[in-house]
Amino acid sequence: MTFHPSMPYDTGLHKSERRLPEQGEPFAFTAENRARLEEIAGRYPPERRRSALLPALYLVQRQQGYISGHAMAHVAEAIGVTPAEVEDVVSYYAMFYSQPVGKYVLQVCRTLSCALNGAERVTEALSAKLGIKPGETDATGLFTLMEVECLGACDRAPVVMVNDHWHECLQPGDAAKLVDDLRAKGPDAVTGCHLCMEKK
Ligand code: FES
Repeated sequence: MTFHPSMPYDTGLHKSERRLPEQGEPFAFTAENRARLEEIAGRYPPERRRSALLPALYLVQRQQGYISGHAMAHVAEAIGVTPAEVEDVVSYYAMFYSQPVGKYVLQVCRTLSCALNGAERVTEALSAKLGIKPGETDATGLFTLMEVECLGACDRAPVVMVNDHWHECLQPGDAAKLVDDLRAKGPDAVTGCHLCMEKK
C-alpha cells in the first residue's frame, strides 16, 4: 500500500511509534547478564549496537523464562531501539515467548514434511500424555505444548524441539517416553541432538 500525498497519515499509528502495554513483571538484567550484554554489544560498532538485539532477548528469556512487555522496554533502552521494534522481533521468531511458559517447551513442527510424516499424531500423543492442547501449559507448570512452522530439519521429519534441542523422527509412540524422561531426568533428557540415525 502506498500513501497518496493528500491522505492523512497518523504518525501515532506507525509501528515504531506504538507504545507497548506494560504487562508482566518489572524487569532489569542481573549484573551478570548486563555485563554479558555489554560484552556482546561491544563487538559491534556503536552505530550498530542494535545488532545485539537477538542475544539480548536470549539473555532475557534465560533470566525470566519469557519476554514481558517490561523486558522489551528494558532491552529497547539497553540496545537503543524502540520497544515496538523489540516486540516485532519477539513476535516474529518462534523461539521467543511473550507469555510465561513451562520449564520444557515442546514445539511440534506442522509444516509440510513433518505433516506428511505424522506430526499431527505426535501432537495428539503429546496432548493426550500432558492433558493439554497446543498453546497451553500443563497444571504442573512444567510443560508447554506448541505447534510451530518449519524447524529447519525437514529431511528428518517429524521434528519436535524441546527447548533448544531437536528430537528428530519422533513418532507418536515416542511421545509418552519423552515426557516421562523429562520428568525423571530433567534437562539431562534433552541434551544433544537426537538424530534419526541413532534410532536405526
Ligand atoms: S517441515 Fe518440519 S522441520 Fe521443516
